[in-house]
Amino acid sequence: MRFLMCPPRYYGIEYEINPWMSRSQQSNSHLAAEQWRRLCHLLADRLGIPIELVEPRPGLPDMVFTANAGLVWRDKFISSRFRHDVRSGETPYFEQWFRARDYKILHPPEGYCFEGEGDLLLCGELGFAGYHIRSDVLAHQKIAEIIEREILSLELTSAWFYHLDTCFCPLRGGAALYYPPAFDAYALKVLHSHIPTLVAVPDEEARRFACNAVVAGAEVVMNDGCPKTRAELEALGFSVIEIPLGEFIKAGGSAKCLVLKVPHADAPDSN
Ligand code: ARG
Repeated sequence: MRFLMCPPRYYGIEYEINPWMSRSQQSNSHLAAEQWRRLCHLLADRLGIPIELVEPRPGLPDMVFTANAGLVWRDKFISSRFRHDVRSGETPYFEQWFRARDYKILHPPEGYCFEGEGDLLLCGELGFAGYHIRSDVLAHQKIAEIIEREILSLELTSAWFYHLDTCFCPLRGGAALYYPPAFDAYALKVLHSHIPTLVAVPDEEARRFACNAVVAGAEVVMNDGCPKTRAELEALGFSVIEIPLGEFIKAGGSAKCLVLKVPHADAPDSN
């Protein structure tokens, strides 16, 4: 497994496409660079995950959130179709990166949005996909065909938790973190009937992006200030590494949004 990341050289709050973003609450570029660097080093040096970089581009401040670029599946890159035009300009640069590395580039069906790993997470043999706010439910079935997995679509109901990875985080061993108020009643039923150990994150920690964690085996990397979630995870045998990522929360993202999984083509399929 490798992670694709994008340095925050042109990161900033230049538009408002989710309730976290406010142009009057700018990010501090030095602090953002420092927080990103620390995350990058933590993943590479402490967790031993190889990091690949894509060149940031001016005018594309959210390119730093590589999780939204698409979904990598074996030798295929399923490129996103963004809901908001302000992010569409990222697509050719991500496609270029994958094309240069011999990936086959695929697209969601014409007219349907899909925001990559932000809205599609694998949990054991199943895929879970968020829809309504950023991705369209009809895109999920095409993706299910490509990855040859069953995908369960979950309707997201809160503008604050607009991507699945802001309110749901699969862990190993049939466990997952989730934030119940972000889902409609049917989605909650689906989660309860398919995931044996569901850990509910409290409001104040969901708002600190506790669900937006990077999981590497038994290690979980998340924004700091989530003590209840941390205790729950430790009780399940996980070890939690907290890292301040407040500059990215100003844009509605945290640890998990800043990485895209790029499995080696011959690696066993997993999340
Ligand atoms: N400002 C970005 C957006 O609204 C943040 C994306 C966060 N990414 C994620 N995977 N949740 O699109």
